[in-house]
Amino acid sequence: MTIALGSDHAGFELKEELKHFLSDLEIDVKDFGPHSSESVDYPDFVHPLCSAILEGQAHTGILICGTGNGVAMTANKYSGIRCGLCWNEEIATFIRQHNDANILALPGRFISLDMAKNIVRNFLDTEFEGGRHARRIGKITPPVNFLC
Ligand code: RB5
Repeated sequence: MTIALGSDHAGFELKEELKHFLSDLEIDVKDFGPHSSESVDYPDFVHPLCSAILEGQAHTGILICGTGNGVAMTANKYSGIRCGLCWNEEIATFIRQHNDANILALPGRFISLDMAKNIVRNFLDTEFEGGRHARRIGKITPPVNFLC
């Protein structure tokens, strides 16, 4: 399994910690940057990561910014990406079971490292339940006649 990691400056420190955590679990990591805590724009890192996932270069991704919202909003612009924002372990379980999330978004400024590790564990260890949830996922993209 290969996991793509990306952040902005507000998520840089947690990204580096999680990189070590995942490597210790012998999981391959592809780091899309940034590579320092210098101020950057999160979309510049989210777009390449989403492309890599959609092209099959990574199985899943973890994105981190200050609140987790900027990276999640950007990632969710892509059809085929389902990015869930998590601030505790239970939500991490549900974004897999119910939403089949393929990217986890974390709020780097609002969770501890221990919480982030617990969230990542649940995200990686939980399977999609399918069934009624698959039907709901199929309805996420707005019908053409609803688009303005
Ligand atoms: C950076 O200050 C902050 O705006 C960013 O990390 C993120 O929270 C945006 O959604």
